[in-house]
Amino acid sequence: IDLNILAQHRDKLWVGTAVDIPGTSETTDSAYLDVLRKNFGEMTPANAMKFMYTEPEQNVFNFTEGDYFLDVAERFGSQVRCHNLVWVSELSDFVTSQNWTAEALTAVMRNHIFKTVQHFGRRCYSWDVVNEALNSDGTFSSSVWYDTIGEEYFYLAYQYAQEALAEIGANDVKLFYNDYGIENPGTKADAVLQLVSELRKRHTRIDGVGLESHFIVGETPSLADQLSTKQTYIQAGLDVAMTELDIRFSEAPFYSAAGQQQQAADYYTSVASCVQAGPRCIGVVVWDFDDAYSWVPGTFVGQGGATLFNSTLQAKPAYYAVAEAL
Ligand code: XIL
Repeated sequence: IDLNILAQHRDKLWVGTAVDIPGTSETTDSAYLDVLRKNFGEMTPANAMKFMYTEPEQNVFNFTEGDYFLDVAERFGSQVRCHNLVWVSELSDFVTSQNWTAEALTAVMRNHIFKTVQHFGRRCYSWDVVNEALNSDGTFSSSVWYDTIGEEYFYLAYQYAQEALAEIGANDVKLFYNDYGIENPGTKADAVLQLVSELRKRHTRIDGVGLESHFIVGETPSLADQLSTKQTYIQAGLDVAMTELDIRFSEAPFYSAAGQQQQAADYYTSVASCVQAGPRCIGVVVWDFDDAYSWVPGTFVGQGGATLFNSTLQAKPAYYAVAEAL
């Protein structure tokens, strides 16, 4: 099975995955790279393009890792959702260790966006311009950006990304907002729509919303809820992508027969919601495709088993469920 070919038959641009290269064991793991090349038509850099790697010191840029990532993706024939420009995490010390004025930090943000976006240019299918800006109640969460600049930082980030791309004639690179907890109808999903309409009032471009979709086995939002949320974004004129899909077990065991069946059903529901939403749900990206390299155990202690392949790269029932949903 090639998941990506199945996706394209469904008018999806791709089925993709986060990939954490270079500088990790994945980078030279040929069995891993074979599965990657065979199944996925999109790659999102799990880390390589984040702020602390691309601008480790103020106005000192290092695009080596991002360029390496893009070279591999292009060799594999994969699209790349570039990730991300403005986020609270994985920032450089120079950003977090100073008391900035709003003006000075705005200039830092503008410089980072311009240099990064213009360096990678049209090699990116899209950019996650702002990542995870909101609390679950829909208010802006505390970050150096918000605490210093106020909510203006959000609108300016999109304006700068748009301007940077226009300057190099790359207006077709899409601008996305990416977050979790917005896969269900509710306050947080409504808040995203508010931000989109504020951007539009300012004549600033935003093309799509990334629904991360980090779910828990047995607690995955229903097909009806996932579908109706996607439809709401699409009706607002946006593209939608599932950008970080994984469905973890909140406790061991991770490989019981019953657990595997429930996980497969939850993957089916999630992918089916994108298929049923039509061509403007442009694709599904899983956040790591095998349990050996999944970010989950390192972040959610005691949890795991979240991906499509086990830690010896055997396809799990979840993998076949995704194929069936496509
Ligand atoms: C994660 C990476 O997978 C890890 O390797 C890293 O240590 C932390 O970040 N939401 C996001 C991603 O938008 O950037 C995060 O990626 C996972 C949560």
